[in-house]
Amino acid sequence: MERFMNHEHLARDSRFKRANNRNQLMRSLPDDVGAIVRIFEKIAPKIHERVQGTSLEAVYNDLGPGFQFLIASGGRQAKGGRTPIQLQTQLHGVFVGELQAMEAAGRTVWDFPDAPWEFKMNMARQCWDEARHIQIFEKLLDHTSTKIGEFPESTFLFETSCHDDPVLRITGVNRCLEGLACDVFRSLVEYGKEVGDMKLAQAIDFVLADELTHVRFGSDWSKEFTKDDPERYKKAKEFQTETERAFSFGGERILAREERLEAGFTEEELDEIENIDLKVPNRTVLVKAAEMLRDRHQARKRGEEPPAIP
Ligand SMILES: [Fe+2]
Ligand SMILES: [Fe+2]
Repeated sequence: MERFMNHEHLARDSRFKRANNRNQLMRSLPDDVGAIVRIFEKIAPKIHERVQGTSLEAVYNDLGPGFQFLIASGGRQAKGGRTPIQLQTQLHGVFVGELQAMEAAGRTVWDFPDAPWEFKMNMARQCWDEARHIQIFEKLLDHTSTKIGEFPESTFLFETSCHDDPVLRITGVNRCLEGLACDVFRSLVEYGKEVGDMKLAQAIDFVLADELTHVRFGSDWSKEFTKDDPERYKKAKEFQTETERAFSFGGERILAREERLEAGFTEEELDEIENIDLKVPNRTVLVKAAEMLRDRHQARKRGEEPPAIP
């Protein structure tokens, strides 16, 4: 069996639709409404291709190429309401994330045969947990009338795990992405309670309890692997900041502080994450650009002259 597998080789059946990673794009966006509108109109055919044949195609046709900032305008971790399609997109995103988390943890057991026994045991344990999460989210997709493959799958989680140093894998996946998952899950539990969907709230609360242990694996092993190696520690720290930045989606992070502290983050680290210089436009600018894109898109559909870009 091949070691250090490329993300393009992940096996999926015909229900799934793979989407290109858009985080690179997010990082290159200027902090200017007009410039963002021009960039998105230029790549509109690509964005359309990404959603073609999925439930997001109708949303694209309605709102145009900036739709993602409008349907996610409350933020991925919004405390308040979610429209049905926001909830469905989010649960589907988590479902494919769980799938990739299982694949990543499984590959880590296989890719590092000389790693300490306890490390491999932890990764095997995680693999088992993620398999259960896949089943839980599969049921939650059913519960919200969402089909597998109804939304495109981005493989960013697995891509973050494609490193030949185990420290970078657990820093990127266990500390950053599963830390982020804790924030998202905490907000989904609260959302479930708010709207009286106790099935959703309780199922995700169970998953959240497991994710805490995965983040803790990341905290413990990143310390252990770098304890006598300041150079490796520095690299891990830089990779962590870079990953936090790439997955911040325009800021407005609401950290699940209590869970993260329990999982081995310190107060200082959490302050650091909250105050990270994201180097991406803030959400207000993104939403303004998306509204402009929507107005221009809808004017064109009506056969009218689109409003001018500022
Ligand atoms: Fe999970
Ligand atoms: Fe996990």
